[in-house]
Amino acid sequence: MKVLVVGNGGREHALAWKLLQSANVEQCFCLPGNGGTATLKGCQNIDIAVSDRDGITRTALDYKIDLVVVGPELPLSLGLVDRLLENNIKVFGPTQEGAQIEASKSWAKALMEEAGVPTAKSQTFTEAEAAKSYVASQGAPIVVKADGLAAGKGVIVAMSVEEAQAAIDTLFQEGFSKLIVEEYLVGEEVSVLALTDGLTIASLLPAQDHKRIGEGDTGSNTGGMGAYAPAPIATPELMQRIEREILKPTLEALRKRGIDYRGVLYAGLMISTDGEPKILEYNCRFGDPETQAILPLLETPLDELLMACVEQRLAQIFPLRWKSGSSICVVAASAGYPGTYKKGIAIAHIDKAEATGATVFHAGTKLNETGLVTDGGRVLGIVAVGETFKQASDLVYQAVDLVEFDGKYCRRDIGRKIMNYEL
Ligand code: AMP
Ligand code: GLY
Repeated sequence: MKVLVVGNGGREHALAWKLLQSANVEQCFCLPGNGGTATLKGCQNIDIAVSDRDGITRTALDYKIDLVVVGPELPLSLGLVDRLLENNIKVFGPTQEGAQIEASKSWAKALMEEAGVPTAKSQTFTEAEAAKSYVASQGAPIVVKADGLAAGKGVIVAMSVEEAQAAIDTLFQEGFSKLIVEEYLVGEEVSVLALTDGLTIASLLPAQDHKRIGEGDTGSNTGGMGAYAPAPIATPELMQRIEREILKPTLEALRKRGIDYRGVLYAGLMISTDGEPKILEYNCRFGDPETQAILPLLETPLDELLMACVEQRLAQIFPLRWKSGSSICVVAASAGYPGTYKKGIAIAHIDKAEATGATVFHAGTKLNETGLVTDGGRVLGIVAVGETFKQASDLVYQAVDLVEFDGKYCRRDIGRKIMNYEL
């Protein structure tokens, strides 16, 4: 089987790495890929942008690709899947209509209402003044969300009415034409990435992301500074409730709208202190860096799983098989991220880090004439699996410390919270 993975982040490196472990997968192409996929055995990068629907379609036809796996939300929201399907190419990911579940917060909120799933109370606005008076009537803390893809920067959790009102002005000035104002929820977050063929749901192990740049969950939001799986807060009982009360009704609501959703339905959930799950957001793709933490634990061959979703026979390969143990992914970022940062800095000793037994997924790297260099804010996602989270943590930080590039920054507390569960 030949597979083509669209994207260039840590998630795509992890997908290509896992797919190539399947006996059926002989070759993988990554578009455009990064320094990690360029050096992965069996994998080849092709320099085509993720937004280039024609280029990707042509490549899939030219190379006789058996399965396309789309990583990021942008090509999904641009209708890449629709284009590939028109050309009879098998593809894992929802169509443009289905991708609205992530691309439009107001669309997703309306769908959640139709599905009757628990979520924060919210209202949609197209004018700043109306949004600001609503905020004043509700008080703070309160959450303001841009209605459109914003690369993780469209959500402002405001601690005061003034902060929320300033965020409303900023988002409209930045060109968003719609935003939603949402009730602030307290609790612990968990990411449940459910694979679906439009009929059946198969949840991957629950994971927890660490979105803030600073230790102890402080400072600016980022794309994600690390993750661990399985997240103990999502007990098997809670996972059953999430599937029954949230994921299945959402899939049903999609079907009622005539949307045949095949791909990842990623639920970002807040679990309240009394254990009640509420949905914060849906994404239409694999999470990054959750995927890097989850996939090393998956035992069911990934190609079979994704193909079963595409061919609408997921029920046949139930239940998914998992390795025992715990996994932690720590992101090594460029100094300055999530603000401005330099690119092109030499990276050394990935081999030493991997000799510890850890796996190093590349996120923002590229190979140039001088070797491997940084090429993004999140540079590497280093993953280790252990029998316990403590073991995984010891191993992962040993590996993190071996990798070198100027300005390397990582949080030292990824997964620390859960170690308390093991005491
Ligand atoms: P989203 O992109 O909607 O997941 O929002 C990004 C982050 O903002 C989430 O991971 C939460 O940490 C936070 N957030 C979003 N919505 C809420 C909410 N209603 N209450 C509290 N925090 C929220
Ligand atoms: N880790 C958050 C996301 O993938 O959106």
